Amino acid sequence: MKILNVVGARPNFMKMAPIVAAIRRRSSEVTQLLVHTGQHYDETMSASFFRDLEMPPPDLNLEVGSGTHAEQTAMVMLAIEPVIVAEKPDWVVVVGDVNSTLAAALTASKLGVKVAHVEAGLRSFDRTMPEEINRVLTDRVSDLLLTPSEDADRNLLAEGLAPERIVRVGNVMMDSLFAQLERANQSSVLGDLRLSPREFAVVTLHRPANVDDVGTLKNIFAALTTIAAELPIVFPIHPRTRSRLADFGIESPPTIKLIDPLGYRDFLQLWRNARLVLTDSGGLQEETTALGIPCLTLRDNTERPITVTQGTNQVVGRAPDRIIAAAFEILRRGQSLQPRIPELWDGRAAERIVEALLKN
Ligand code: UD1
Repeated sequence: MKILNVVGARPNFMKMAPIVAAIRRRSSEVTQLLVHTGQHYDETMSASFFRDLEMPPPDLNLEVGSGTHAEQTAMVMLAIEPVIVAEKPDWVVVVGDVNSTLAAALTASKLGVKVAHVEAGLRSFDRTMPEEINRVLTDRVSDLLLTPSEDADRNLLAEGLAPERIVRVGNVMMDSLFAQLERANQSSVLGDLRLSPREFAVVTLHRPANVDDVGTLKNIFAALTTIAAELPIVFPIHPRTRSRLADFGIESPPTIKLIDPLGYRDFLQLWRNARLVLTDSGGLQEETTALGIPCLTLRDNTERPITVTQGTNQVVGRAPDRIIAAAFEILRRGQSLQPRIPELWDGRAAERIVEALLKN
């Protein structure tokens, strides 16, 4: 069997690394090829993750880079089509919900090559999010829907997708998290930034809905400034957000430390030691749940409701008052939360994924 794995953007790498490793462990039965679309290309957004996650460098980089959604999706499709034609894989494996995910899935399915979607079935039910469109369409054309949790299965069944295509494998991001926990302890990030455990908050923001509108971004920064007066904030800043702050002339106070994006291990060491995380990331909602770190999600919805029902996540929206109130409530509460790890978030999802690929 031959598998063609596709990655494109930062949140793909921690999902694909354990799959590549699990396939390698079965190399007598399966061969694999790793294709990077080049959607993310900065050292801090891409190469450093390959190193930290011990993922071999991609066999091929399509170097599509940035662009509008149509440009980026179309460029990945154009570049990956001849690769799929030449390699004739039995499976194309895509992960997550970025533009590269949909582009590769659509191209493969039209070539009659089977597609497996890892992290299938997540839904925010918010079609203004580009990722929601990518999720719905990728699931529609995928032959194997590899889901992280029961809510995802339910969403797929409600959309009329055939039950025999759905296999619940658990959350593969946890495979990377648990594998790197020990090694992250060697990171010097806390010392480098002069931070003591639980005496700071971590912020990440990059969603267009939060950072592309001047009023919204100003409001969020006003809330962060109030919180930072009580608890200093460290904000590893996505390139898109950094350029918006400059475009909008928003100045951040010294209590909010803006730093370049961190690699996987440094970032893990940072957030696991935080008192509180404020984010609009999807992955971080899950990671903070797994380690019991309080998380406030600055969005109106989440495609990962299990992090709210079973985990440490609260979806607080973008209104400054709500963000500030929720943060201060967590500070008042004292102790960190006990991690309550959802079913099948056990670090063995990649093995189950490979098993499902071999069986189908
Ligand atoms: C993408 C994903 C999003 C994911 C996020 C994680 C889509 C639709 N969005 O959003 O789901 O949460 O990645 O980071 O696929 N840029 C750089 N260097 C890079 C990459 C991007 O400077 O290596 C800048 C460019 O100005 C670019 C902008 O960031 O135009 C946005 O990049 P893009 O890949 O379009 O989307 P993200 O916002 O990163």
